[in-house]
Amino acid sequence: MLVTGGAGFIGANFVRHTLAHHPGYSVTVVDKLTYAGNRANLAGLPEDKVSFVEGDICDAPLMDQLVRDSDLVVHFAAESHNDNSLDDPWPFVNTNIVGTYTILEAVRRHDVRLHHVSTDEVFGDLALDDPHRFTETTAYAPSSPYSATKAGSDHLVRAWIRSFGIKATVSNCSNNYGPYQHIEKFIPRQITNILSGLTPKLYGTGEQVRDWIHVDDHNTAVHLILDKGRLGETYIIGADNDHVNNKQVIELICELMGQDGYEHVADRPGHDLRYAMDSTKLREELGWAPQYTDNDTGMREGLSQTIEWYRDNEDWWRTAKDGVEKQYAKRGQ
Ligand code: NAD
Ligand code: TYD
Repeated sequence: MLVTGGAGFIGANFVRHTLAHHPGYSVTVVDKLTYAGNRANLAGLPEDKVSFVEGDICDAPLMDQLVRDSDLVVHFAAESHNDNSLDDPWPFVNTNIVGTYTILEAVRRHDVRLHHVSTDEVFGDLALDDPHRFTETTAYAPSSPYSATKAGSDHLVRAWIRSFGIKATVSNCSNNYGPYQHIEKFIPRQITNILSGLTPKLYGTGEQVRDWIHVDDHNTAVHLILDKGRLGETYIIGADNDHVNNKQVIELICELMGQDGYEHVADRPGHDLRYAMDSTKLREELGWAPQYTDNDTGMREGLSQTIEWYRDNEDWWRTAKDGVEKQYAKRGQ
C-alpha cells in the first residue's frame, strides 16, 4: 500500500491503524515533510512493515515508480489548512490539484487501485437552520482556496474514473480531531494554548458548526471502503456531530481542562457557517458506525483522550508552538 501524506495527521493515524488492525499490508509512505509533516508521527513502527520516502507527489517520475511498485494507493497528501490558503493559495493549487493529477496519471498507466481522501468543505456551507445535510449527490460549492482545490482534485478523480476507467473510490469526511493533529488546527490549538498558559481563541462569535469526527472513526471508514467499497463510488463520512458549534467545543475543552474563560478574536474572512454530513450510504452499504458520536458522550470521550495525548506528548508540539502563535498574531487571531 502506498500512502501519500502518511507523515501528516490523518495519514499517520491511518498507517498506525493499518499496522494494528490490517497486518497483511506492508506500507510505503511518500511525504514531502512540509511544515505539516513530521517524521516523528511514524516513530516506533517496524521498518520491515513501513518504509518512508521523502518526496513530492508532484514529482511525476517518482510517483510513477512508487505507484508501479504498489497494489493500492491511499491519497492523503494535501495542503490542508484554510487560514494558510488565504495567505498563499499557490501551494494548495500545486499540491492538491497538480499532485492529484500526477497520481491519477500514474495509477492510470499502471492500473493500480486508488482511494482519494477528501473533505466536506467541497460542498460549501449550510445555514444554521438548514435541515439538509451533505450527501454524495450534493452539488459542489467550495468557498476557500483550500476547499476549491480539494473540489478540483475530486473532479479530476471522478473524470479519470469516467473517462479512463481507473479503479478508484473517493471519500469526503468532516472535520477530524485526535492525536498527531498539527497545533495550527482549532482543537489542538486550544489544548496547547491551555497547556502553555495562553488563553484559548475563538474566531468571531463561535456559532459555526463543524461535524466533528475522531480520526480513528475516519480511518475505520477508509479501510471499509478499501475492503468493500464499490469502485467508482463516493462515500460521505460523518459522525452526526452537526449540532455542536465552535463555542460549545471550546467550552467543553475548557471544562475538561479546568480552564476559566477564552477570548474572541478576529473572524476568518469568508468563514463557512455549518457543515453537516449524511453518511447513510456508508452505514447501510458497508456497515460502518463511528465509535465516538455525540457531544454528551462520544465527543467528550474523544476530546478527553486527545487532551491526554497532547499532555503526554509535549515534546511533539512544544517547539512549533511559538511559531504557530506568531503567525496567528499577525492575523489578529
Ligand atoms: P496534514 O496537513 O496534517 O497532512 C498533510 C501531509 O501531506 C503532511 O505530512 C505533508 O507533509 C504532506 N504533503 C503536503 N504536500 C505534499 C506534497 N506535495 N507531496 C507529498 N506530501 C505532501 O493534513 P490532514 O489533516 O492529515 O489531512 C489529510 C487529508 O485528509 C487531506 O487530503 C485533507 O484534505 C483530508 N481531510 C482532512 C480533514 C481534517 O479535518 N483534517 C477532514 C477531511 C478530509
Ligand atoms: P480548523 O481547525 O481550521 O478547520 P476548518 O477550517 O477545516 O473547519 O477550524 C475549525 C473551526 O474552528 C473553524 O470554524 C474555525 C474555528 N477556529 C477558531 O475558532 N479558533 C481557532 O484558533 C482556529 C484555528 C479555528
